[in-house]
Amino acid sequence: MERLRKLRATPVIRKMVRENHLRTEELIYPIFVIEGQNICNPVDSMPGICQYSLDRLPEELDRVMEAKISSVLLFGIPLHKDEVGSGAYHENGIVQSAIRYIKSKEKYRDLVVIADVCLCEYTSHGHCGLVRNGVILNDETLPLLAKTAVSYAKAGADMVAPSDMMDKRVGAIREALDRSGFLSVPIMAYSAKFASAFYGPFRDAAHSAPGFGDRKTYQMDPANGREAMREVEEDILEGADFIIAKPAMAYMDIIRNIHTDYNIPIVAYNVSGEYSMVKAAALNGWIEEKKVVMELLIGLKRAGAKMIITYHALDAARWLEEE
Ligand code: PBG
Repeated sequence: MERLRKLRATPVIRKMVRENHLRTEELIYPIFVIEGQNICNPVDSMPGICQYSLDRLPEELDRVMEAKISSVLLFGIPLHKDEVGSGAYHENGIVQSAIRYIKSKEKYRDLVVIADVCLCEYTSHGHCGLVRNGVILNDETLPLLAKTAVSYAKAGADMVAPSDMMDKRVGAIREALDRSGFLSVPIMAYSAKFASAFYGPFRDAAHSAPGFGDRKTYQMDPANGREAMREVEEDILEGADFIIAKPAMAYMDIIRNIHTDYNIPIVAYNVSGEYSMVKAAALNGWIEEKKVVMELLIGLKRAGAKMIITYHALDAARWLEEE
């Protein structure tokens, strides 16, 4: 009979046998950029998270640099929305402008800027694709997603991350990027994205709640793990360079299964509702925030995630540095 406690006897031995590690460069920090001036709007349901107008963005970017975070994921909140989400692919759209700003500053030059590609923040109906007679259209949406991705790449985005869940969008985006000469811009695809109530606080932050119905005709049923693997396979065939699994905590089996079956970097998206739950409990003094966050993040690594998109990134980076 083995006495496994031998390997837990001292901090040094525990460190020696530690199987998984979290590194700062594996953290991706989401940032909300909003059209307008002098805005630093706290998001009520996400304590610590704000929407920033471009002129206030440097405050947040400086915190990112100081924490030695390598990468940010940009979401845009436009002033005007329309039926076809034209703000998403406008040359001077909010995300395009934010990317150009970041890339124009020497001190942010090495920051990896990932642009989320979706229409929901830009459409008046709040859906991720075009709508006709209450139906979310698939193939008609693809050219707009492709156009959005290309305009982000033109602005200087290092990667694009389609989160819309239309069928065939990865292929359409890859083809459009290649045709426009952006052969080396990777696609970080939200492949296993579930229709989740955990996105609630994000929709407050990004003003992107659907105006009617829900997203169940395009995002996945939380009951379906095997189907997620078909989504992943399809996206890899279409040219995905990274696979995002989302949400993270209630979907760790999905992360593990992708890790077992595919040789591709997996990104776990620790979404807004997961963040808010932890924050709410921590603010009430019910849990120890640092320990809980680090345990959740290492759990995602253990499940098979290579990188983690998380609103805790600034704190986590600081805690990693302290260790
Ligand atoms: C846009 C998008 C959403 C999230 C990321 N991209 C919202 C949604 O699908 O409704 C959610 C992120 C989060 O909850 O942190 N399609």
